[in-house]
Amino acid sequence: MLEVVFTKGRIGVEAVRIFVCGEKSRLELDVLNQNEKEAVLKACRQSKFEGKNGQFVEVLGGKSKIILAGIGKNPGEIEWQKLGGSLAKKLFKDSVACYIVNEIKGCKLSKIEISYNVAFGLMLGSYRFDKYFTKKQQNEYPALEQIIFKLKEADEAAEAFKKYAALANAVRYGRDLCNEPANYLTPQVFADDIDRLKYLGLDVEILDKKILQEKGFGLLLGVAQGSVNEPKVAILKWKGKPDKEEFDVALVGKGVTFDSGGISLKPGAGMGDMKGDMTGAAVVVASLKALALQAAPVNVVGIVGLVENMPSGSAIRPGDILTSLSGQTVEVLNTDAEGRLVLGDCLTYVQDTYKVKKIIDIATLTGATMRALGSEYAGIFGNDSKLIADLIDAGEKSGENLWHLPINKAYDKMVDSSVADMKNIGGANAGGSTAACFLQRFVAEGVKWAHLDIAGVDRVEKSTELCPKGATAFGIRLLNKFLNVKL
Ligand code: BES
Ligand code: ZN
Ligand code: ZN
Repeated sequence: MLEVVFTKGRIGVEAVRIFVCGEKSRLELDVLNQNEKEAVLKACRQSKFEGKNGQFVEVLGGKSKIILAGIGKNPGEIEWQKLGGSLAKKLFKDSVACYIVNEIKGCKLSKIEISYNVAFGLMLGSYRFDKYFTKKQQNEYPALEQIIFKLKEADEAAEAFKKYAALANAVRYGRDLCNEPANYLTPQVFADDIDRLKYLGLDVEILDKKILQEKGFGLLLGVAQGSVNEPKVAILKWKGKPDKEEFDVALVGKGVTFDSGGISLKPGAGMGDMKGDMTGAAVVVASLKALALQAAPVNVVGIVGLVENMPSGSAIRPGDILTSLSGQTVEVLNTDAEGRLVLGDCLTYVQDTYKVKKIIDIATLTGATMRALGSEYAGIFGNDSKLIADLIDAGEKSGENLWHLPINKAYDKMVDSSVADMKNIGGANAGGSTAACFLQRFVAEGVKWAHLDIAGVDRVEKSTELCPKGATAFGIRLLNKFLNVKL
């Protein structure tokens, strides 16, 4: 993995040197010798380098290679992270690089902030999921092994980077979980991996099928009953404030390790992407990992429902009626609307067991939200405007954007059933809102609740600065911002 180093001292000649400047700001080239300076200025003129965002120029070659990068006007944290991600792509053949950090005119960030944001972007942008290639994919994988940031405030930058390094590790872990195929990542394997996180000081509890039956997780078990892979529920606790009994917030994640649709089978095209229907669970687990690595001063409980949704002779049928852990009954009219069933029981369990006052659930829940928002925003629904506003704000600051979508009594009425307390589908339209209303029926009076529907943002079809094609693990950064700042 990429090693990130901060130094105030001299740098060796073996490293590629990186200089960044903004639009209308000057390149500071003091560390270069006269020949190098002339070569840089000539290259700038020839390529009309103006420091615009996305502009890169390579000067000289071999051991003396220099990269100039533009960052544009008034760059914020996200722009710096993206620059780091782009640099990861530029540094394919070079194993060591040194970024000579300068202040940028018009940029509110200090050199320390610039360094750790670029480093964070490099760690995300260089992420690859390559364990299944039997031959190394040449030219596909960044060769960079070490990045050195040269600045006077190296010690402070190294200290501040620790939190971001922890978060980058958590995001990479979350992406690994989501990219794993469902034949590897069964509920059992997922639960075993979660159990392993005890080494970080997390408290982990795994409920197996027998316990789930005894307790009465009727909805979750209904989804699982068509699969040979038995369901699990995992509970993770991080107590960053050990003297306090209560948890500040509960995180609830949908962990459908594969969603075939069940008897209401999905069409074949794109079904392979449904290995990622456990992204909500991966985000919850990775978020707790991040808090533990950061030793964050918050108390958070996470719960994830891990099941596989398969058609078989033992699968639930459209028309079946299930009794939930809450006691409410559900008519299952479409076995492909399984996520809300899994989440419903998890919501009940976490509230009954931990008396939480604030809950955030996260799930690849509806195609309807995906169609409404595409890959630009995830949908946020909820019953508390402050919680929603805080999450949207954390999203903006972390580059994971949320758009508030509505719930109300009329949408709620659409999930009434003629034979049970509710049905698991609404009408033809407003699928995101009716799914959220279904979930709200499992949220107790007085509990502040937000629901993030991340269908559509859980993966990218084309690589971006900060993520190669595949799983994004959307939500870890925004939840980390929220949990560190807003509680
Ligand atoms: N996992 C899907 C939602 C989904 C769709 C996630 C596309 C990622 C990309 C979910 O379980 C589902 O199938 N929902 C149905 C619900 C419907 C049957 C009421 C949907 O949205 O089509
Ligand atoms: Zn489904
Ligand atoms: Zn699903």
